[in-house]
Amino acid sequence: MSRAYASTTSTATITTAAAAAASSTPTLEIDAILDAAPYVPVISSLSSVYSASALPAQERRWASLVESFKNLYPAEDLTFIARSPGRVNLIGEHIDYSLFDVLPMAITQDVLIAVHVGGTDGKLVLNNTDPHFVSRTFNVADLKDLEIDATVHEWSNYFLAGVKGLFSLLPSAEIPSMHCLIDGRIPTGAGLSSSSAFVCASLLAIATAVKAASPYSTTFANAVTKSDLVQSAIVSERHVGVNSGGMDQSASVFGVPGHALRVQFYPQLKASPVAFQSDDFAFVIANTLVVADKHVTGPIHYNLRVVETTVAAEILAKQCGLGPLPIRDGFGGTLRGVVEAFKARGVDMTGVMDKVKQVFSKQEGYTLAETAELLGQTELEITQKYMTRFPVRFERFQFRARALHVLDEARRVERFCELLTHAPADQCGEDAEEKYLQDLASIMTASHKSCRALFDCSCEELDELVGLAVANGAYGSRLTGAGWGGATVSLVRKDKADEFVQCLKEEYYSKRYPGISQDKMNDAICITEPGLGSAVVVGSYSG
Ligand code: ATP
Ligand code: GLA
Ligand code: MG
Repeated sequence: MSRAYASTTSTATITTAAAAAASSTPTLEIDAILDAAPYVPVISSLSSVYSASALPAQERRWASLVESFKNLYPAEDLTFIARSPGRVNLIGEHIDYSLFDVLPMAITQDVLIAVHVGGTDGKLVLNNTDPHFVSRTFNVADLKDLEIDATVHEWSNYFLAGVKGLFSLLPSAEIPSMHCLIDGRIPTGAGLSSSSAFVCASLLAIATAVKAASPYSTTFANAVTKSDLVQSAIVSERHVGVNSGGMDQSASVFGVPGHALRVQFYPQLKASPVAFQSDDFAFVIANTLVVADKHVTGPIHYNLRVVETTVAAEILAKQCGLGPLPIRDGFGGTLRGVVEAFKARGVDMTGVMDKVKQVFSKQEGYTLAETAELLGQTELEITQKYMTRFPVRFERFQFRARALHVLDEARRVERFCELLTHAPADQCGEDAEEKYLQDLASIMTASHKSCRALFDCSCEELDELVGLAVANGAYGSRLTGAGWGGATVSLVRKDKADEFVQCLKEEYYSKRYPGISQDKMNDAICITEPGLGSAVVVGSYSG
C-alpha cells in the first residue's frame, strides 16, 4: 500500500497559551512520524494526517468543526485540535489482556477535540457535535479528586478517564480552563474502538492544554510521549467500567500510515510497524449495524471473558505446579505467563494446549464452587479478587474453550505476521500471489470460527456478514474488535474491492435494513487504509 502523504516543515513554537494558535508554526516531517519519534507529533497540515483520497472530505469536515467551534465559543480562539483514530484489528482477538501479540492498524475515522485554552472561568466545558451527547461542565479545581461512577453509562466519563490518565502521568499538574468541542466519526460500539480513540484524544488534549498554559513552556510540542499516552490511557480507560486490554490505545496512538502494527505486551509494551509486501489486496470494514454496548453487556460478555481467561491461567498454574504467575495490572495471572512458564520447562504451545484439555476436562464448564476447589481458594476470595471492581454474571465458567481460543489465536498472529513479512514471490508454486492471499485469509477465517465457537463473541449478523463476504469474493473475513455485534474485516483483491462493497450493500444492508440510505451504507462499509496515529494539529486546519 502506498504512502500518499505530503511532508511539512517548521517548528511548533508558542509564546503564551493565548497566542498559541496565532503564532505557532508547527512542524512535522512525515518521515519523523515513521521513524517512531517518541513524542506525539504536532502537525500543521491535514495532508500529514490523512491520505490523499481521504483529504477532501476531511478538509470539509475540519472546516465545519472550526466553524461550529466559532459559533459555540464566539469570543475564544481555537488553540489546537487533538486527534486520535479508531482501529481495525486484522488478527489477534481477545488475546491482548492475556498479553499475547495482536495486529491492528489505525484507520482514517477518528475523534477530534477542538480546544480553547486560557480562559479564566475555571471550567472544563465539553460540547459534542453529536446532539445525543449533551453538554457537560466541570470545575477544573474538582478534577483532581474526581471519582468516575462506572455504574452509569455517561459519555463524559471517557473524557474524565483522560483526566485520570493525566494525573497519573503528572500528579501535580494544574488543568487550565478548557472549552472543548468534540467531533467523533467512529461509529460507537462497532468494534472500531471509538472509546479508546476518545480517551486517547482526551488525554492528549489535556496534556497539551497543560503544556500550553504553563508559563514555562515555549512550545506545544513534546507535551506527552506516545508511550506515556498509551500506557496511561490503557489504565485510565478501565475507569469507565470495562476491563479492557491495551490493543486499542496502542493502535490509536502508534498508528503509522501504510502499515499494520504488531503490538506486543510481553515482556513490555512495544508497537512495530509491519509493511504490506503486496499492493494487490485491501481490507474492507463492514459494520453489521448491531451496536455492541460493552459498558452495558460487560458483566456477561467482555468483563466475564477477562475473568474466565485470568482464572483459567491461575488454575493452570496451580494444577501444573508452575508457581505464582506475574500479575497483569493488579488483576491476575495471564495465559501468556502460563505459556512462558511452560516454555522454560521445555513444553511448547501444542503441549500447553494439551494441558488445558487435561486440566479442564469438563466441556460443560465450571461452577464457582468447582472453581474454588481447583484454585484452592474460597468462593468469597475469588469473588473479591476478580469480580468486584468489574462485576460479572455467569452460571459456569468456560475455561477450556476460552483458553484454547486464546492460545490458538496467539499462534495465528505469529503465522499471519510471518506471512505478511514475506512477499508472495518468496513463496514457491505456480500462482504465488493467489496462494499468499489464500493463506492469509484462511488464518482470518479460522480466527472467526474460533471467536464464534470457542470464545462465543460473535452474533448472527456477524456470521451472516462473514458468510456473505466469502460468498462474494473475499479471500477471508472475520469479526474485528470485541464482537457481539460491530464490524467485520475482509481481505479482498484491490481491483475487486468496489465490486465487493456493492455486493454486500445489496446482499446485507438492503436486505437486513430495507430502505437504508446510501449515506448510511457508505458509512457502514468502506475500503480501509492504515493511517496515522494520534496528533495535535495547530494552524490553518486545512490541507
Ligand atoms: P470496541 O471497544 O468494541 O472496539 P467501541 O470502542 O466503539 O468498540 P465501546 O468500548 O462500548 O465501543 O465504547 C463506546 C462508547 O464510547 C460510547 O457509548 C460513548 O459513551 C463513547 N464514545 C465514543 N465516541 C464518542 C464520541 N464521539 N462522543 C462521545 N462519546 C463517545
Ligand atoms: C476491545 C478491547 C481490546 C480487545 C478487543 C478484543 O476492543 O478494548 O482491548 O480486547 O476488544 O480483541
Ligand atoms: Mg471500546
